Amino acid sequence: MGKLSGKYAVVTGGSQGIGEAIVKRFVEDGAAGVAILGRNLDVAQNTAKLIDPTGEKVIAIRCDVSDEQQVADAVETILEKFKTIDILVNNAGVTNDSMFHKMTKEQWDAVININLYGVYHMCKYIVPVMREKNYGRIVNITSISAFGNIGQANYSATKGAIISFTNTLAMEGGPKNITANCIAPGFIRTEMYNAVPDEIIAKHIKRVPLKRLGEPSEIAGAASFMASDDASFVSGQCLVISGGGSI
Ligand SMILES: NC(=O)c1ccc[n+]([C@@H]2O[C@H](COP(=O)([O-])OP(=O)(O)OC[C@H]3O[C@@H](n4cnc5c(N)ncnc54)[C@H](O)[C@@H]3O)[C@@H](O)[C@H]2O)c1
Repeated sequence: MGKLSGKYAVVTGGSQGIGEAIVKRFVEDGAAGVAILGRNLDVAQNTAKLIDPTGEKVIAIRCDVSDEQQVADAVETILEKFKTIDILVNNAGVTNDSMFHKMTKEQWDAVININLYGVYHMCKYIVPVMREKNYGRIVNITSISAFGNIGQANYSATKGAIISFTNTLAMEGGPKNITANCIAPGFIRTEMYNAVPDEIIAKHIKRVPLKRLGEPSEIAGAASFMASDDASFVSGQCLVISGGGSI
């Protein structure tokens, strides 16, 4: 029996990168069902099939988390299939970098709409399900950029807000046996990080005591811990996973 045995989870942006690693790890740890929410259904379905060729445990649902109606419909579909939701991982996120004085309102809005409204929409529809069943594990993926990062005013604002939002969810959810925690990854080798120029990557690695980038699986292990009953008394925390480095 794995530590997520019998549990049903939702992972936003679970088609690739950190989200895909989390879905894979949840299945390895015995989850009864995992729903991948992604903007591109084909990509989400491919990932689901790769992780679970039987198609029994992992389902793929098309959902842009910035669109409230799509989130409402996705949650309804998940509840039809799984009957319940125990674990929510808000992982979907984007960057759209530039110095603040050059940042357009479109760049600002694009990141706020996905990174922050996405988390809000998911929680709006799933927290009531968890309150009703008196059980829930919420894991929000933020970033070490939450503490400020040059060129990422929009992204940092969303990631910082996610930490304070999570702390509030933890306070309000505690009496209903709902925990809420964050993971703040450092530099992790995914498609998002591929956008970073080579010379910047070299500088990043220099600042990491472990002298390398992190792997998505190194975030997934912590997400599984936070989603499990091993973490039943852990709430309102933000675990930085950065090889010891900071921005
Ligand atoms: N890679 C890093 O170095 C790093 C560092 C810190 C934090 N993070 C955070 O980790 C999370 C995962 O990032 P990643 O590195 O795996 O990036 P990624 O680009 O590989 O994956 C992001 C996923 O989110 C999905 N997504 C984006 N917008 C969406 C939307 N509107 N609706 C639904 N899904 C959407 C993408 O399709 C993709 O599947 C993000 O929240 C990111 O901010 C990443």
